Amino acid sequence: MAGRRGAGAAVAAWWCAVGLLLGACLAGQTSEYRRRLGSAVDMPLDADVFRAPPGHNAPQQVHITQGNHDGTAMIISWVTTSEPGSSTVLYGTAKDNLNFSANGKHTQYTFYNYTSGYIHHCTVKNLEFDRKYYYAVGIGQTVRKFWFRTPPKSGPDVPYTFGLIGDLGQSFDSNITLAHYESNSKAQAVLFVGDLSYADNYPYHDNVRWDTWARFVERNVAYQPWIWTAGNHEIDFAPELGETKPFKPYSYRYPTPYKDSGSTAPYWYSVKRASAYIIVLASYSSYGKYTPQYKWLEAEFPKVNRSETPWLIVLMHAPWYNSYNYHYMEGETMRVMYEPWFVKYKVDLVFAGHVHAYERTHRISNVAYNIVNGLCTPVHDQSAPVYITIGDGGNQEGLATNMTAPQPAYSAFREPSFGHAILDIKNRTHAYYAWHRNQDGSAMAADSMCHPILAADGRLLRQFPVIDIHTDDSWCCGYST
Ligand SMILES: *[C@@H]1O[C@H](CO)[C@@H](O)[C@H](O)[C@H]1NC(C)=O
Ligand SMILES: *[C@@H]1O[C@H](CO)[C@@H](O)[C@H](O)[C@H]1NC(C)=O
Ligand SMILES: *[C@@H]1O[C@H](CO)[C@@H](O)[C@H](O)[C@H]1NC(C)=O
Ligand SMILES: *[C@@H]1O[C@H](CO)[C@@H](O)[C@H](O)[C@H]1NC(C)=O
Ligand SMILES: *[C@@H]1O[C@H](CO)[C@@H](O)[C@H](O)[C@H]1NC(C)=O
Ligand SMILES: *[C@@H]1O[C@H](CO)[C@@H](O)[C@H](O)[C@H]1NC(C)=O
Ligand SMILES: [Fe+2]
Repeated sequence: MAGRRGAGAAVAAWWCAVGLLLGACLAGQTSEYRRRLGSAVDMPLDADVFRAPPGHNAPQQVHITQGNHDGTAMIISWVTTSEPGSSTVLYGTAKDNLNFSANGKHTQYTFYNYTSGYIHHCTVKNLEFDRKYYYAVGIGQTVRKFWFRTPPKSGPDVPYTFGLIGDLGQSFDSNITLAHYESNSKAQAVLFVGDLSYADNYPYHDNVRWDTWARFVERNVAYQPWIWTAGNHEIDFAPELGETKPFKPYSYRYPTPYKDSGSTAPYWYSVKRASAYIIVLASYSSYGKYTPQYKWLEAEFPKVNRSETPWLIVLMHAPWYNSYNYHYMEGETMRVMYEPWFVKYKVDLVFAGHVHAYERTHRISNVAYNIVNGLCTPVHDQSAPVYITIGDGGNQEGLATNMTAPQPAYSAFREPSFGHAILDIKNRTHAYYAWHRNQDGSAMAADSMCHPILAADGRLLRQFPVIDIHTDDSWCCGYST
């Protein structure tokens, strides 16, 4: 089945290439691949991936995220359960010489009748670019050691490889997605587009499932930063339980370096990483005119120096362009507010989650409509971003399989399968993007879909992406000029 699909895709890609020569590539593709249906099942509490590390008061749920705007700081977080213990991180560039130290703080929260462990956050600063650092937590008790690599200093041709994961959850499929992502040894950081644990799907939003999720993903996020985006499953607004502070568990557990980009809330912010400038937006915080997020974004776009970071990427949870019959139009109100800026400032890529499936659009915009002129159809626009929905991490709610028909002209490819993506930036003009579907069963090999994109360079020139589909994800498509 995969073979037949591959052949069909190759033909479609060939037609697309022909279309390119003619200056247009309008055909969309709805994949015929159908994964086994039925909703994904959460791993049980005694699953191997949820085991707490051994040792008295051992640090667990270790995770890191970028700690400042330029990448020379890292926020290191972990949880202890018996007693607070130390909030100190020892670190250094040699494995056996952790001669730097930084002191953090610990905090704790309650949610209905749940009381969290001691949640530690420590920011290590003044790191050198492009260096491997070793770090240790649990000082004075059970010490656990990890490592990470800082990004290279930003510059237009600095290569960097990002992973894209969304709506992960903690099902058996989530575990396959994570293992599949980990099998790509080149990936250096994850752009996470929201909906982490799905603890809120449990009775009383059982926050134990926030703990299990963090233990599950530690094997990756203790070693490479995940850049967080808040999704609807992070809101945890539960007045029936007396919990009315939105994002309470999420904000206690997952800090972001928002102050360093002039933001006033942790849910919208920006970071630079190698040749990419990443803007994180909050689908569930107010974004209308005059709101803090609106004012921040208005001031933020002009700050992006495309000569330094040619790749401008935006993350959000609710997609603006989504042709599945799930969460349909939920991103529309934010699109109406912000899309003109995305086109004006030539955003390259917009990644969203929320819809549990995969979809990629052509470069399109829908900014002409002004209520009276009737111009309400998305049109091809070389200044507009490619929009990618990658909410297919594998959570317990299962796949979104019901699509609108026919496929809208703006939609380039869509398929309801669990998976993740890799964005492999080579230099200011070339990046290879591949979506990796999880195969049924335990196999980690997958099809990939790649489309090199001629990025915004100093002159912000654009070219249609070349689209090709291959069945071997160890090789990513070539580029034709
Ligand atoms: C830590 O050791 C490294 C050599 O491994 C040295 O370059 C650095 O200056 C030392 N830092 C401190 C704070 O002692
Ligand atoms: C919280 O309350 C629910 C409902 O009464 C109960 O089932 C659960 O065991 C309680 N959890 C804790 C940690 O007390
Ligand atoms: C999760 O995936 C890892 C890596 O493949 C594997 O070692 C582990 O047994 C899996 N656990 C479950 C519960 O599927
Ligand atoms: C933009 O970045 C380039 C390359 O790093 C640098 O030479 C230039 O001064 C920057 N421009 C501004 C306005 O900061
Ligand atoms: C798919 O979604 C449409 C629109 O919501 C609905 O009318 C239709 O019944 C759905 N089809 C299936 C098979 O669920
Ligand atoms: C940019 O990267 C592409 C793909 O690796 C390569 O073909 C091209 O020569 C590079 N451009 C420059 C200016 O190095
Ligand atoms: Fe969502």
